[in-house]
Amino acid sequence: MSYPYQIHSIEDYHAAYQKSVETPESFWADIASHFTWHQQWDEVLNWNFYDPKIEWFKGGKLNITENCLDRWVEKQPHTPAIIWESNDPHTPSRTLTYQELFEEVCRFAHVLTQNGAKRGDRICIYMPMVPELAIAVLACARIGAIHSVVFGGFSAQSIADRIQDAQCNLVVTADGAYRGNKTIPLKSVIDEALLTCPSVQKVIVLTRTNTPVSMMKDRDCWWEDEMKKISAQGNLPFKAAIMDAEDMLFILYTSGSTGKPKGVVHTCAGYMVWANYTFVNVFQYKPGQVHFCTADIGWITGHSYIVYGPLSAGATTLMFEGIPTWPDAGRFWEIADKHQVDILYTAPTAIRSLMSFGTEPLQGKKLDSLKTLGTVGEPINEEAWHWYDENIGRKNCPIVDTWWQTETGGVMISNLAGITPSKPSFATLPLPGIQPILVDEKGSLVEGNEVSGNLCIRFPWPGMLRTTFGDHERCRTTYFSTYENLYFTGDGCLRDKDGDYRITGRVDDVLNVSGHRIGTAEVENAINRHTGVVESAVVGYPHDIKGQGMYAYVIFNGIHVNEEQTRKDICETVANIIGAIAKPDKIQFVSGLPKTRSGKIMRRILRKIAEGAVDNLGDTTTLLDPLVVEEIKSNKL
Ligand code: PRX
Repeated sequence: MSYPYQIHSIEDYHAAYQKSVETPESFWADIASHFTWHQQWDEVLNWNFYDPKIEWFKGGKLNITENCLDRWVEKQPHTPAIIWESNDPHTPSRTLTYQELFEEVCRFAHVLTQNGAKRGDRICIYMPMVPELAIAVLACARIGAIHSVVFGGFSAQSIADRIQDAQCNLVVTADGAYRGNKTIPLKSVIDEALLTCPSVQKVIVLTRTNTPVSMMKDRDCWWEDEMKKISAQGNLPFKAAIMDAEDMLFILYTSGSTGKPKGVVHTCAGYMVWANYTFVNVFQYKPGQVHFCTADIGWITGHSYIVYGPLSAGATTLMFEGIPTWPDAGRFWEIADKHQVDILYTAPTAIRSLMSFGTEPLQGKKLDSLKTLGTVGEPINEEAWHWYDENIGRKNCPIVDTWWQTETGGVMISNLAGITPSKPSFATLPLPGIQPILVDEKGSLVEGNEVSGNLCIRFPWPGMLRTTFGDHERCRTTYFSTYENLYFTGDGCLRDKDGDYRITGRVDDVLNVSGHRIGTAEVENAINRHTGVVESAVVGYPHDIKGQGMYAYVIFNGIHVNEEQTRKDICETVANIIGAIAKPDKIQFVSGLPKTRSGKIMRRILRKIAEGAVDNLGDTTTLLDPLVVEEIKSNKL
């Protein structure tokens, strides 16, 4: 069996691309016809980028889990759906076949409904990378509830913000999570978050670490107990809720240039088609292969390429609970050999970090099952690309550099493994359906042989975001108002003479630290809440491993025990408010910040100083107090 819409040659790619631009509706209708529907759509596409209004397959009725589970249970019940590898290499791995996964999802769907969850409810999931996380996600989709997965590294405050914004009424969590040699207490973080979340009625807690937890009567219950109750009732299949194509499937919060993360909304049918189409084509998945995406399901990469993309394609997806460097830096490679992984999809930051251990962790690793390598989340530098190619791919595996975003639902610009050529540090060509253009600051098209500009997309694709939860206007102003009639990505980009795209990084105030997207305003707000801090400005600077590091300039009028201690305290405040992933790498205390006469911080100057380009600051004459720049320069860390 193969996929009727899989692209097999470069000619196929060009033909598909052309068709997707000339007759997008029939192009996508053909592809969508290969999925399971309860009722056909009335209209393939209805859109305008003004409101914005984006509707794909409107009127179509389906449930994404019937496409991820039921149809494969019929065809291949014993094929592994999820292979799970524990944090601890000595814990046996687990395999759930399509039949088993289906049963577990149905069972948990019953648990959810018996605990009061209904179609349309928002359910927050804060769990470790265990199969139950995927089961919880799919069970939400099965009953027609909207999941909002929050990455396990976020703080109680961040969770509370997300729960309140979405008005979740149920939380699924675990007692704790293993991460390398650490145990992270998830349930107690949830308890703290829920102090300010009156909308939450129920908390279902999975046992993972046996960390002692408080369990509140009438609110908290154990996953295992609830599952047993369903078994005692006879383990009946759960009839999937029949959803409209445009019903919400999930919310995923992501950072932007303002202080408050926004809830990106994806809907059922378009997202499903896009996650599946991109999975099958970018990675050139062949039935029977093992796909290992190292992301966490708390991020979009995990949603699309651990859960929905692979499972909707009947693929075998490998879920890893741990981290690449524990118990040693050979962990990924050991997993690749142990499970005969065919496709490995990871982040440049992981590659750079593993590179720094040299080739010793590769000793004795065969890596001969690997066929395709992928990267995602940030630009990959040429050195890391070649290391990946030579040491992991043994110069035998195509590398796909996949550019996309939480908002785009799936890969937008990438080579197709073994089909279209790769070019180190270039994402290369748009997928069928994607019409990228580059514009200048004023929104005029930039054209020519080798040009740079702001990357926009001029036509809808099935997996694009539909709104930001609870605030459609925010969606419009963030993505659709900068340039008329275009979706603005926030990324800068270069297009070379071959038409290949190279993403050069964000052009807004969003940082990409270790592949995690963090808004500078969010971090500044957190720093400013630290006692004694008057004002702060956060900028990015190049970091060998993380890609970007975070440099904070802080005006502090409190009393220092010593500067180093205050730095640590500020980091702790940021970790408390956002999560440890948002801790600044460097904190420089300053007496003032460079501002224009209208009071705007000149970030360009701060960025240059952080990058070390102190002699090339450009025009500083418009500054209110040019002297402050001299002070900042001379005290640079
Ligand atoms: O700046 C781009 C960068 O990551 C941003 C999206 O972050 P997020 O929504 O968290 O999604 C990450 C996983 C899809 C983009 O705006 N980015 C993502 N992929 C690449 C990239 N930058 C360069 N090359 C990539 N392949």
